[in-house]
Amino acid sequence: MGSDRDELLRHGAELDGVEIVEYEPSDRHPLSPRYRRGRLLVLGSSAVTVIASVAAAVVYLAWPWRYVTPGGEGHTLYRLYTPLLGTLLGLAVLGLAAALLLTAKRLLPREVSVQRRHLENGSTSEDRATFAATVADAQERTGLRRRSVFGRAMAVAASTLGASLGIVGVGAFVRDPWDRRTHTTSPEDTPWHTGWHSPDGETVYLRMDTGEPTEVVLVRPEDLAPGSTVPVFPFRESERDDPEALAKAFEESDNPATLYRLPEGTAMAERADRAGLNYRDYYAYSRLCTHLGCPVGMFETATRRLMCPCHQSQFDLTAYARPTFGPAARALPQLPIALHPDGHFVATGDFTGPVGPGFWELG
Ligand code: FES
Repeated sequence: MGSDRDELLRHGAELDGVEIVEYEPSDRHPLSPRYRRGRLLVLGSSAVTVIASVAAAVVYLAWPWRYVTPGGEGHTLYRLYTPLLGTLLGLAVLGLAAALLLTAKRLLPREVSVQRRHLENGSTSEDRATFAATVADAQERTGLRRRSVFGRAMAVAASTLGASLGIVGVGAFVRDPWDRRTHTTSPEDTPWHTGWHSPDGETVYLRMDTGEPTEVVLVRPEDLAPGSTVPVFPFRESERDDPEALAKAFEESDNPATLYRLPEGTAMAERADRAGLNYRDYYAYSRLCTHLGCPVGMFETATRRLMCPCHQSQFDLTAYARPTFGPAARALPQLPIALHPDGHFVATGDFTGPVGPGFWELG
């Protein structure tokens, strides 16, 4: 059978005008060192994929992924969640790729052939017979048919990887990180805490940016004329002598807010759930556009509209920064404010919702 096939192979090559310049079959003996090394490498790579895929699924389901404030218990574990998931899924893909590459490099025969191009349409029965012999010979020589353990190992690895990717992919649709009902330890334990959140109850003031990170200038009502605005950042008295904390308040991307003083005679829409979040005609909102996070820094006093310069989203200040034009689909979160007895503005809580781009809001 083998010699018949060799004949057909040669004959097929001649019919197609193929000149086999070099043909180095793989070592077919199952006890040869080359075969054993190849087997170990392929099986090892497949095992890496299986282990990494299972570990990724376990990490995705069981690792403590809920937000923990910096310095809080378990913050390090929480921070490892995403890198761990990425590393394991990456390893799984690499393992499978390595198994495929090693199979090709170690087990497939190396062949250099030269074939003249011919343009006849269709294949004769002779062509088909010689082609089938070529394929059968390749399977025989590479041992892929006989050594189906490679195929099975890679199939298991690919299935495990597929299952893990499926869990991670589907999980994003069923697990809502913003859902407060799932938070059993603290109703405020959500990922959208910003620097305005005060877990220990310390007063958080509204602070201006003077360009000097260590200079503290707090905001008073008389600092804003009707129709004017000022960017504000959180400040706590306990941070006054801490240059690092003072600078960090400006650096944290979630912190920027804008304090607006409405033009005189502005009629605000009624909203019971927003009652008490402003001080007279002063309102504060996140400065991050809910489209892609650009700073919403333009205030058109005539129309009472806020505008984002990046893609022209507009927000109606008389309707609690509801989007009225452009790609932004969500209102700017409001920062609840009040006037402290010492005459400065303070935040009475965190923003009313997640700040920044709309894709954060998965629920
Ligand atoms: S980032 Fe504001 S409209 Fe796109």
